[in-house]
Amino acid sequence: MRFSTAALLALPVLASASESPFQQYKAKFQNFLSNLGASPLAADKGGDDAATTQKEIPTRPVEPKTITTLTLANWKDVLYEPVQPEATHPEQWLVLVSGRNNTCFGKCDRIDGAWNASALAFASLPSASSLHLGYVNCDDERVLCNYWSAATGVLWLLDIPGPAPAPVEIRMRRMNTTTVTTEDIVEAYKEAINPPPVEEEAQEATGEEGQAAKKGAWHRYSPDGYFHPFDGKLAKAGLLLPLAYFFWAINAIPQWGLMLILSFFSRSMMNRRMNNLNPPAGAPGAGAAPRPAQN
Ligand SMILES: *[C@@H]1O[C@H](CO)[C@@H](O)[C@H](O)[C@H]1NC(C)=O
Ligand SMILES: *[C@@H]1O[C@H](CO)[C@@H](O)[C@H](O)[C@H]1NC(C)=O
Ligand SMILES: *[C@@H]1O[C@H](CO)[C@@H](O)[C@H](O)[C@H]1NC(C)=O
Repeated sequence: MRFSTAALLALPVLASASESPFQQYKAKFQNFLSNLGASPLAADKGGDDAATTQKEIPTRPVEPKTITTLTLANWKDVLYEPVQPEATHPEQWLVLVSGRNNTCFGKCDRIDGAWNASALAFASLPSASSLHLGYVNCDDERVLCNYWSAATGVLWLLDIPGPAPAPVEIRMRRMNTTTVTTEDIVEAYKEAINPPPVEEEAQEATGEEGQAAKKGAWHRYSPDGYFHPFDGKLAKAGLLLPLAYFFWAINAIPQWGLMLILSFFSRSMMNRRMNNLNPPAGAPGAGAAPRPAQN
């Protein structure tokens, strides 16, 4: 009986002369195997595997990128530190210019927090693998912010090329300090390294929405201008640092100080005028008549 069923099963196989029976059995067997593969049991097993690998990720956390604080004393050394002498690609720095009550009117807390969190986000972003992060606080670094002509709440993207005389490309982007998130910062960076198509940009620039979009766009710091902190005319002439100190001093003098200076000057001018109009007490009285004629 057993033998006969086996023979019976084999019959249709043998009947199809076009394909070898072995091929047919092989196809059936594979079909069977793939059915097994899709069984709930197998799916559960796969799910388990995925779950364990998912669980493993947090146990090996990504280290956040280091955020280096720039000061007037260290900024050039810090920015050029990762640059190799024979480098062919520029080293890229993303720097947040921030502040506290004096330079950001106390509105930079949100962007500071988003910036801190972005150190982790950038660490797990493949396109940012060689990006360096920096931070300038203009409340602490008034002179540096003057040197850079930097406003708070602005991201600076600096491409520092190999040998020092090569020009440094600087792009800046103002962030909305009331709404900014870590994602905004990461997106802004992605946009900088992967800009939207040119024609799209040209269209944007015309419309009303274009103006709004432009607000949140990257602006290039013209290296031909006077104030570019690396390649500008003033920096090359060595005048940018004295100027930075000058503007810092002007800002550091309190309002009453300026009033005092102004009143001092105006009083001394008044005195001189008075002296011209009224002859000194010791002058001879006769001199009073011809004096106005002199004037
Ligand atoms: C900043 O200003 C806020 C409100 O004016 C005040 O509460 C806070 O103490 C100030 N912070 C510093 C560091 O001066
Ligand atoms: C950001 O990180 C720095 C350094 O760890 C810390 O001093 C600062 O308070 C942080 N700022 C915010 C807003 O979390
Ligand atoms: C920031 O965003 C808020 C909400 O969209 C908006 O009301 C505000 O005007 C923006 N600020 C700036 C400086 O663009």
